[in-house]
This record gives sequence, C-alpha cells and structure tokens, in this order.
Amino acid sequence: MKLPSKARAVAHSNIALVKYWGKRTGSSADLNLPAVGSLSMTLSDLRTETMLRTQVDIDRFILNGKEQTGSVATKVFAQLDRVWASKHSGARPRCEVESQNFLPTSAGLASSASGFAALTLAAAGAFCLPLDMSALSRLARQGSGSAARSLWGGFVRLDRGQRDDGLDCLARQLFRQRHWDVRLLIVHTAKGPKPVSSRSGMEQSRLTSPYFEPWVATSEADLDAAQSALSDRDLHSLGTIIEHSCFKMHACMMATQPPLVYWNGTTLEVFHALWAARAQGLVGYGTSDAGPHVKVLCLPHAADALSERLGKVPGVHKVEVVRPGPDAHVEVSP
Ligand code: PMV
Repeated sequence: MKLPSKARAVAHSNIALVKYWGKRTGSSADLNLPAVGSLSMTLSDLRTETMLRTQVDIDRFILNGKEQTGSVATKVFAQLDRVWASKHSGARPRCEVESQNFLPTSAGLASSASGFAALTLAAAGAFCLPLDMSALSRLARQGSGSAARSLWGGFVRLDRGQRDDGLDCLARQLFRQRHWDVRLLIVHTAKGPKPVSSRSGMEQSRLTSPYFEPWVATSEADLDAAQSALSDRDLHSLGTIIEHSCFKMHACMMATQPPLVYWNGTTLEVFHALWAARAQGLVGYGTSDAGPHVKVLCLPHAADALSERLGKVPGVHKVEVVRPGPDAHVEVSP
C-alpha cells in the first residue's frame, strides 16, 4: 500500500472543567484508562501543529525546532507504533515528526493534550486510518488521558467506562464551539516546566492518597451536574462545580505521599483575588491543573476587568484570554 508522503494536523489544547486524576486500579498501563471521567473546554489559540513525513530513513522528533531524544521521543514513537498497529501489521515506516507548540510545554497548560491529539491525527492521516474521531480519541488517550478530549472543539466529555478493554472509555463532543461565548483567562504564575509529570503524580496519588477513593466516588455526580449547567449556560452553577472539582483534586494530590503540591504562593493569591472580585460582583470561577497557573472562566463582559485585576497580583507575569476553540483537523498530501 502506498502511503501519503505527509500529513499535517492541528489540535487545540483543552482545560478540564471537571478534572481527571488517576488511573483505574488493575487496568493495563498501556490502555491508560482513567479512574474518573472528565469534562473540558477546548481552547482557541493554544494549539499544537504537527507535520508527519513518511518517506524518510530514520525516526526523528523535532519539537519547537529542536530535535528531541530520550523519553520524550520514545513516547512519540510508541504512539506512532500504536496508531500503525491499530490498522496494519508488519513494521511501521520510519517517520519524521515536526511539532510546534503554540503554548508552553509541560507547564500544566495541557501541551500533552494538544500534542498527542495532533500526533495521533497526523499519524492516522499518514497511515490511511479511517478518520473515526471516537476511535482516534481512544488511541490519543493511550498517549495522554487529556489528549482524548482534544480531537473536538467546544465542550467535550470523556466517560471513564467500565470495560477492561477500554472500548467504552469514550470522549464525545457535548456542545460545539459556538454553544456559549465564554472566556477563559489563563493566569500565568510561573515560568518553566512542572517538577512531577501528571502520569507519575496520579499514580502516586492512587497508591498513597487517603482521599483518592472519595475523589473517584464523587466525580460522576460532578460530571452530570456540570453537563447540565453547561447545557443551561449557567455560569454560577458550572463555576461552583469547577472550583469544587479542582479543589478536591488538589486535596487528593496534597494528601499523596510524598505531598504533590503543584501550586506556588501566587496560585493561592490569585484564587483569593478572584474570590474578592466575585464578592464585589466581578464574576469568574477558577481552576488549576498539574501546575501553578490558574484558569478562570467568565463571561465576555467581565474578561478585561478580571484580567487587569488578576494581572496585578504580585507574581503574575501574564494573563491570556482565550475562547472555546475549534475541532482538530488533518490535511494529507499524496
Ligand atoms: O492526561 P494528562 O497526563 O495530560 O493529565 C491531565 C491531568 C489534569 O490536567 C490535572 C486534569 C485533566 O483532566 O486535564
């Protein structure tokens, strides 16, 4: 079979409004099955663009113009192997993968979500897989849990499923990009990569945090409530769930041994400033991931005033404003 010479994919990053943290006990590490479902908003602007070329002699991975070796490259080639093996037998062709992240890498800003989604989609295009987004999302999940959600724009839900083979661990778009004109403020509180990767951090939490089981047991209700608030475009109800899910996840992280504290002092100061603004009628709701940055969901009319206010918190060096983003896509060249 003659493969296309190249495929270029673009996938946008996403931020979980209802969080995922932890793998399912007893599940295969390669399937990367989450212990809880999650619900996210795909982001405008923040994205990964990936070009994959097949007519080359060796595997290479270039990220932001620099060739990568070691574990980063190993994960990328393992993902190419998975995508290839899902349709073909025999040896995978050598590939050159060139990715550009239009967002900071490994800083709790979901670069692995857009990265693995774009990689999976580019590989699917180059290896002639049917562009069945559900199936591709399952493959993307094996690279990174949050990547399963970045195949779609708008608002996406990933259900944990029950089956050991992961076939019912499915992501789907709940609402398209235009469903609700909201803003997400990304309040940068640090520079540089996070110290503990989410994959190893969540495994430590599963093994040692006494809050892991309650975290898992209460997540499904948050998902359903968030979906219904999103459907009603009800910022107060959604925001209340967003903050609760975030603080439950961080409580579970902090009770891990040794403690997993992804926040810095500025993270907490931003939350306090956000709550003070809210008490005065300037309304936004915050969340944060496996990193110190705070993301704030608000309505368009509040975005400028909130950005200005949170931008003044000592230690904040940038506030970006994004909107719901588009679906991922791929172009294939013969
Ligand atoms: O799948 P990963 O390794 O990108 O982990 C994602 C974990 C969180 O960002 C903390 C939560 C989430 O659901 O995105």
